[in-house]
Formats: sequence, C-alpha cells, structure tokens
Amino acid sequence: MGPALSGPIFLRLAGSFLSEIAESLAERYCRLTTEPMSGAFFSNSGSEATEAAVKLARTYWLSTGQSQRYKVISRWQSYHGITMGALSWTGVTLRRKDFQPYLKESFHIPPAYCYRCWFGKSPGTCDLDCAGALEDAILAEGPETIAAFMAEPVVGTSISGAVPPYEYFTRIRQICDRYEVLYIADEVMTGAGRTGDVFFASDHFNAKPDIIAFGKGVGAGYYPLAGVLCNQLIIETISRGEGMYAASQSHSGHPLGMAAGHAVLDYVEKNEVLHQAAKTGAHLGRRLNELFEHPSVGDVRGLGMMWGIEFVRDRDKKLPYEPALSFHTRIYDAARSLGLLVLPSNGCNRGCDGDMVLFGPPLISTDEQIDQMVDILDRSISQVESETGMMPSNH
Ligand SMILES: Cc1ncc(COP(=O)(O)O)c(C=O)c1O
Repeated sequence: MGPALSGPIFLRLAGSFLSEIAESLAERYCRLTTEPMSGAFFSNSGSEATEAAVKLARTYWLSTGQSQRYKVISRWQSYHGITMGALSWTGVTLRRKDFQPYLKESFHIPPAYCYRCWFGKSPGTCDLDCAGALEDAILAEGPETIAAFMAEPVVGTSISGAVPPYEYFTRIRQICDRYEVLYIADEVMTGAGRTGDVFFASDHFNAKPDIIAFGKGVGAGYYPLAGVLCNQLIIETISRGEGMYAASQSHSGHPLGMAAGHAVLDYVEKNEVLHQAAKTGAHLGRRLNELFEHPSVGDVRGLGMMWGIEFVRDRDKKLPYEPALSFHTRIYDAARSLGLLVLPSNGCNRGCDGDMVLFGPPLISTDEQIDQMVDILDRSISQVESETGMMPSNH
C-alpha cells in the first residue's frame, strides 16, 4: 500500500453526518497502524463494527464488478458479536444454537488453538494446518465467491487468550493474497493497546489486515465507541466504483463519542500506556504462570494485558470438567466475592465443554495491583477446587 490519502474519505462515502471532530479522530486512528490505513467509519458497538467491516468488504467487491463475492469465512471458537450478522460469523456453538434459524449461511474453519489442536499437532512441530484450512475452504467454496476472511489476532472469550504461532497470520495473509480475499482483523477486544506495545494486535504479526474492526477500549468505557478502518486500495476502489457504502446509523460518529476517542488517545500517548501495558503484561504473565501449581489449571496463555486460563479435571489428558459443574462460573463467583472481576466462559473444546476465565485488567494497573489480583485469583481457584471435591487443593 502507498501512503495514506489525506482525510477520511470513507466517512463521506458513508453519507453519514460529518463533523470536524469525527474527521480528525478518523485521521488519527488511520495512523495508529504501522502501515497507515486510509479510511475510518464509526459505530456504537463491536457487533456493529464487524458487520460494518463485512459490508465494507462487500461494497469493495461490488465496486470491482464482482458481485458473486459475498461469502465470509471465519473460525470456530471465534467471537464477532451478538447481532444476527455478527453471530453468523461467530463460531461459538453455545451462543449460536438458540438463534440458529435466523443465522446466515456461514463458513467456519478450525481455530488456531494449540492447547487443543484440531489436527492433533504440537506447537513448533506442526505445518500450520489450521492456516492451511483457509485455503481448503476457499477452494471448496470457490475462490470467486469469497469476499473476506475474518479473525481475532488473539482470541477473546471463546478460547480465552489463545495466541497463534507467529507464522500463522503470515500464512493467512499469503493465502488471502493468492485468492484475492480480503482479511478483516476483528480487533474489538485486542485493540486499544490491550496486547501491549502496539495499538492494534495485528502489528505483532507479519500480516497487515485490509480492514480492522475496533471497539471496547477505544472509548475506555466512558462512551460506547467502535468502528472500522480500511486501507487505501479499498477507499480508492469504492471511490471509483459503483459501490455505495451504506452502514451508517443515527449515532455513527456522534461528537460525544469522538471527543471520548480523542481523550483516550491523548491519555494513551501522554502516559505511554502501550509501553506500560507491555511491561506490566509481562509481569502479569509471569504471575499467572505460577497458578500451574493448581492441579485444575491446564493452560495459561495470552499477550500483554490479555490472558486466559483454561481449567481441566485431568491435566495429562486435558479432560474438561463436566459442564453441569460450571467450574468457570464458580471461579467467577469466588473471585467476585473477594473483589476481583474475571470474564468466565465455556465451550472451548469444540463447543461442547471446557472452562476458562479471561483476565483483562486495566492497562494502567501497577505491578502491585497485578499481584493483588493474581493472589485473589489464586485463592479463588483453591476455594473452587476444594468446593468441587474434584481436585485436592494445595492451599
Ligand atoms: C472480538 C470481538 N468482536 C466483537 C465483539 C462485539 O462487541 P460488542 O459487545 O461491543 O458488540 C466482541 C465483544 O466482546 C469481541 O470480543
């Protein structure tokens, strides 16, 4: 890609109301990736953002005259949001099943999930079959019908904190390029510095997305701000072609949200939050790895300030707990009663069972606060282990 175009042209294409503050925030976001993006569009939730990202990919293909390209490939055990479109691309069986009749045709490939590799391989000795599965899916569906592949750089709640091997996204990018498929990075959870050092987690890998969906931390919880970024090729093609991008809602680019977005970026820059998150995140990772002293802790994985713990009743065999035991909610309840919030989830084992918690403390936490949080989690795990009688507690 060449240098960024000046100004967020995409906002004009969207036909939404413009304001100076929205244009300046769009421009600022476009420069947060190592290779600058060229267009931005704002929404009010991450679910709307992933849908806006897919609509953008579709509009791009319409602009090139390839109206047959509409399919979106995503991954099992991925989460892209709860609205019907976003839920169709989501690969969380437990969240999809009640609404299955309303979901659109969707195409899922296996996740990059080394702890429970779908191909029975181990990290470092595998051929990245999980990435190769994208090529199989593209070929089987017909490359001329595929609009985009969508994935979270580091998986959020559905495989709490799973980080792919470094080469995974390199291979994904090569496959996307080979078949001219757009790559959408869902950075709703991983963006805003969550993984440390970089604003968007895609920049940890050697695979630049064509479109990025963002949300959550960009408003720091003060305003429900979300949106999408896209590269120059998409902007130029949509500007030239027939495709009219129609995704705006009443409050897209609301000035209050734009002000919140600017304030967050001001704070992040002034206080070197990305650097701080990487530093404290390394401490957090070290401390969480100490939890392996608990027999129920099967895996600890993550990056920066985004870490997951997976619980098992037999570590050697990686046997999950009985779902009826709801081990993950027990951990959540125990931690909460001691003053710590963690995000519980289940179904990582092919949608059937498997208990996890995701740990995502504020990026400005100090090492001492992290120690306090991990100590509470430690005590909570001991409590649940002895409560359930499944494992002897060490404490
Ligand atoms: C990766 C990812 N995408 C999309 C969403 C949906 O965002 P929202 O809950 O703001 O609609 C989430 C929310 O957790 C998420 O983690």
